[in-house]
Amino acid sequence: MSAATTPPVIALKGLKKRYGMGDAEQTVLDGIDLKIERGEFIAIMGPSGCGKTSLLNILGLLDHADDGDYLLDGRSVDTISNGRRARIRSEQIGFVFQSFNLIPRLNVIDNVALPLTYKGISKTKRLLEASKILSTFHLSEREYYMPWQLSGGQSQRVAIARALVNDPSIILADEPTGNLDSRSSHVIMEELSDIHQRGNTIIMVTHNPNLTSYASRVITMLDGKIATDTKAPRQKRSKSALKRRLDAQRKTVKKPKKTTPKKSKKGAK
Ligand SMILES: Nc1ncnc2c1ncn2[C@@H]1O[C@H](COP(=O)(O)OP(=O)(O)OP(=O)(O)O)[C@@H](O)[C@H]1O
Ligand SMILES: [Mg+2]
Repeated sequence: MSAATTPPVIALKGLKKRYGMGDAEQTVLDGIDLKIERGEFIAIMGPSGCGKTSLLNILGLLDHADDGDYLLDGRSVDTISNGRRARIRSEQIGFVFQSFNLIPRLNVIDNVALPLTYKGISKTKRLLEASKILSTFHLSEREYYMPWQLSGGQSQRVAIARALVNDPSIILADEPTGNLDSRSSHVIMEELSDIHQRGNTIIMVTHNPNLTSYASRVITMLDGKIATDTKAPRQKRSKSALKRRLDAQRKTVKKPKKTTPKKSKKGAK
């Protein structure tokens, strides 16, 4: 089968979403046409209220559009039963939302291992997988902490680890680094980059223009419409390149003031 016959992973045609009724009705998505191929890393930007989260909610099958078509893997989502929608959400889609709360009565590793319970693998294997991903987020020492013992940034990283442990093929991330300092942000972005390089599709909303450099395509939205859609030049991002970037960033942050006195000018010989 040639690649041309493979349908886009996501295809939207004239997608509309409205909230409210009568005078209070507001069109928050106003005819979105969009095709996303498997393996793209898309960054979505745009002012507050322009409809980014509303769009992600529909893409992630958490909400329905009022008008237009949404084909997921070539199949109209309108024809998918509720049971099947739930299954697709849990097996194929990873949500990295800021409001993704941890379960308070479970410790960190059990929280992260939770999505794997539906996969029918042994508890030992589940904990091993959870432990592996926690270590990539530098959280190994917190495995047995309870959520209330974590800082805000740590909780967010645990929530992200939990969203990614299943190795979902589509990742929807709504400002995944919103509350994090720049070092933690880049740890998360490195992880998303790795997942992207493994062939998965990532759709990430961000307000931080620096983070769009990780994406292969940048979409801006305005008033419920797509305003611009730009393919980024193909970047081969090796681990070491990312490490270099991180190091460079650390240096910029910690750069000490130059204190070395200027060499005194010697008289001309
Ligand atoms: N459940 C809802 N009921 C009514 N209106 C809503 C609902 N959810 C969102 N809206 C409205 O839809 C518009 C778009 O909201 P959305 O959350 O998609 O914006 P956004 O682009 O994600 O903004 P931000 O950058 O602030 O997160 C807003 O005006 C918001 O008030
Ligand atoms: Mg939003």
